[in-house]
Amino acid sequence: MTNPTPREFDPEFIEARSAPDRQMYRAERASREPMRSVLDNNPEIYIVPPRRGSDWGNWEFKAGSYYDTTTGSKHPDWAGVELPQPAKDIDRLRADLVRWGYCLVEDALSQEQVERVRTRVLEQAEGERLAGIAQRTPSGQNINCCVNKGRCFELLIEQHPSAMQGGALVEQLVTEALGPTWISTSMIAALALKGGVPQALHQDQAVWADSPHPQLFNVLTAATDFDETTGGTLVIPGSHATIAEAVRERGPVGKLPPAINVEAKAGTAVVYDGRILHGTGINHTDAPRIAILNGMSPSWLRQQENWMLSVRPEVLRRASPKLLQRMGYQATTGSATHEGHGFNARGLLGEAAGALVAFRLAADEGRYVRVGELGPDSSREDLEAEYTLREVVEAARAARQSNPRQAFDPGKVR
Ligand SMILES: [Fe+2]
Repeated sequence: MTNPTPREFDPEFIEARSAPDRQMYRAERASREPMRSVLDNNPEIYIVPPRRGSDWGNWEFKAGSYYDTTTGSKHPDWAGVELPQPAKDIDRLRADLVRWGYCLVEDALSQEQVERVRTRVLEQAEGERLAGIAQRTPSGQNINCCVNKGRCFELLIEQHPSAMQGGALVEQLVTEALGPTWISTSMIAALALKGGVPQALHQDQAVWADSPHPQLFNVLTAATDFDETTGGTLVIPGSHATIAEAVRERGPVGKLPPAINVEAKAGTAVVYDGRILHGTGINHTDAPRIAILNGMSPSWLRQQENWMLSVRPEVLRRASPKLLQRMGYQATTGSATHEGHGFNARGLLGEAAGALVAFRLAADEGRYVRVGELGPDSSREDLEAEYTLREVVEAARAARQSNPRQAFDPGKVR
């Protein structure tokens, strides 16, 4: 006869002894700092009142509104302050990064290089719209998983001089900031379109806000001119350091200076610290504003075992929603999005909006069709191809419509 399971292991027994006030680190986990005090003391920087898309076109500078702002050189609150300027001098760039949380590498892409990438992005954006797989955002349209969509993107991830003439300089700055062996976390082309909604200011590195140095970096390559009319990225210069200091001292973040629009000519690489408050601005013009976003993180910031590749197909097929989630097969907005699938997902068990296993199973069965280069001249065959992304997105939509709470059965994606 086997011994009965000790009653201390019984879930009900555990629950009876696990009142919320018994949680370890309860106060720290519940504090919601630093963003709570950022928003309490700077309420104007978060609230985007619901308006029609067409209303966003009426721009005027208004003190106090984080998105109806202007460039640092024109903003009265920043007059006389020496904010980052486009530069090629590495010492100047280092100093801007440390002090202001961002720097502007002037002419990081030559005009020919920027023309090539801009053309590719515009073609791809149109191709994805024609194929019915465009990934819309509140600001416009994103092109995800750029590495599959043009040689120029492969080279940009490498900061290869043939795609980015200032690549060695950008690479040096990122390596000094993150240490050697850093990895790329994604490359996304973000189009801000007229009528798009400004993004709430946020930190890309929303955890470990008091870390003495950044754990995330972004290289934003401006493929079009950035200013207050085109939707130049909104930043609060120096906010990375102000927030880190407040968190280290266990105090609230106080009143912050106003946001400005980044001003940068096409071809500029804006290198920014993951802790700086920033967001997409409003594009008031008819032309798309294009940013190529390349995020970087230290190499330890990922799973030790690469379960995406290594798990046997039969294990995946019988895996419970819990096992799938534990192995990383549920994306969230900030982690493990797959060809862009997983934005707006929260990483919940069986959550259709972020379920990834169908991609792996399709690959195992030799029928995974990835979205590649598309454009206005793509063949009907390419535009109507059975992209696995299309299947997964449609299955997620159907699951959400049939029952928003129902767990997603990956086996049904065929
Ligand atoms: Fe961001």
